[in-house]
Amino acid sequence: MKKKEIKTVFYEFSSIKELETDDQILVKEAKKIVKNAYSPYSKFSVGAAVQLENGKIIRGTNQENAAYPSGICAERVAIFYANSKFPDVAVSTIAIAAYTNSKFTKKPIPPCGACRQVLLETENKFGKNIRVLLVGGEKILLIENIKALLPFTFNKDFLE
Ligand code: THU
Repeated sequence: MKKKEIKTVFYEFSSIKELETDDQILVKEAKKIVKNAYSPYSKFSVGAAVQLENGKIIRGTNQENAAYPSGICAERVAIFYANSKFPDVAVSTIAIAAYTNSKFTKKPIPPCGACRQVLLETENKFGKNIRVLLVGGEKILLIENIKALLPFTFNKDFLE
């Protein structure tokens, strides 16, 4: 028996000002778009902003439904929209922010498992890392790729 370890590296910023300019813009876009969330059930509004390699920014928000499981997270709305509009353009970064109880969350909000799986598909499709910016009032976290968020990933290699 061998014990093995998977290490996750991430960076923590105490203020948006510590980020490079493009990332600052992306964080602001994610925060701006939360107002478009449709979240009457959870009252938890999420905004995601996706930076594409062609310079475009695509934004998305969570969309809920009276039949609860029919709703979808902000990250998947943004990434599916990006892939639909620009199917041949790689994604470089996604920023995620959440708003509830009349304020942005203090803690950075991580993407759910389903969103990680979807983001991983796009990362693999283009063979390019997707950086993740998790935005919270007290800190911002940067993870350098989706694989780091989802070890033991299921991908197309297992479909043979
Ligand atoms: N949600 C997102 O949009 N992204 C996340 O990363 C976490 C959760 C949404 C789903 C649901 O509409 C609401 O937030 C509460 O879970």
